[in-house]
Amino acid sequence: MANPFDLTGRRALVTGGATGIGEGIALGLAAAGADVALTYRSHAPEETLAKIEAAGRKGAAVQADFTGMDEAAAAEVTGFAADALGGLDILVNNAGIIYREESVDMPLSEWRRVLQVNLDSVWLLSQAAGKRMVERGSGKIVIVSSVLGSQGGLRVPAYTSSKHAVIGLTRALCNEWAPHGVNVNAIAPGYTATDNTQALRDDPERSRALLDRIPAGRFADSSEMAGAAVFLASDAASYCHGSVVTVDGGWLAR
Ligand SMILES: NC(=O)c1ccc[n+]([C@@H]2O[C@H](COP(=O)([O-])OP(=O)(O)OC[C@H]3O[C@@H](n4cnc5c(N)ncnc54)[C@H](OP(=O)(O)O)[C@@H]3O)[C@@H](O)[C@H]2O)c1
Repeated sequence: MANPFDLTGRRALVTGGATGIGEGIALGLAAAGADVALTYRSHAPEETLAKIEAAGRKGAAVQADFTGMDEAAAAEVTGFAADALGGLDILVNNAGIIYREESVDMPLSEWRRVLQVNLDSVWLLSQAAGKRMVERGSGKIVIVSSVLGSQGGLRVPAYTSSKHAVIGLTRALCNEWAPHGVNVNAIAPGYTATDNTQALRDDPERSRALLDRIPAGRFADSSEMAGAAVFLASDAASYCHGSVVTVDGGWLAR
């Protein structure tokens, strides 16, 4: 039997792939055999590209800021990946931001910025990639949500709203595109040691409270999100549509 997790010859685009969870996923896809294009905003992509190439895969990177993204910008990003790799089989919507503020003080500008990056860009890039995939009759879209896609969180109203919304979007797109051979699924990471959680991990009280509540007793490493992404991007997940794979050290089970 062929290895159902093998991604040899597949072409993937990972947004925010030069750092954090995105880098962990990009390297996991490359290790499974995929060529990988990534987007970056502020982190230089050279190191990640070198690791992708060291795995014997093709890498490519494009700089893009998703704030205020429109259809043309989304088509440019997916077009870049398809041109660089010779096609696009897998899209991982990973890029995202968090803004912590008491809800009574949350400025509309920050609310909008979080929703633009965490929701609008996911919609636009999925639409742009989905057009190609539906036409071809195959493709994999993976959306990075969060455990805050099903919980409220503390002082992160826009983030929580965006992460709930992308789970709804995962299900909505799955209903339309599953009949066309396109798998749309989500990952819900728990607390992972990246820039996103730096402030929490730097606060000894908050950090202790979180660690006490995580059954695994530690934060995740970015590389630990790769397995779920490889699975959802592979033939092993051919019958997974609209699923949310939780990778949270047991957080939601608590
Ligand atoms: N860390 C966690 O505990 C955790 C838990 C659940 C879900 N998540 C989700 O996992 C995803 C990755 O987060 P992370 O933890 O790896 O945090 P991170 O290290 O801060 O990475 C965020 C990524 O998003 C990119 N990005 C941020 N703003 C952008 C913008 N305006 N336009 C385009 N790209 C932008 C960043 O690019 P540059 O670095 O190049 O600027 C970076 O690659 C996010 O969707 C996050 O919500 C994280």
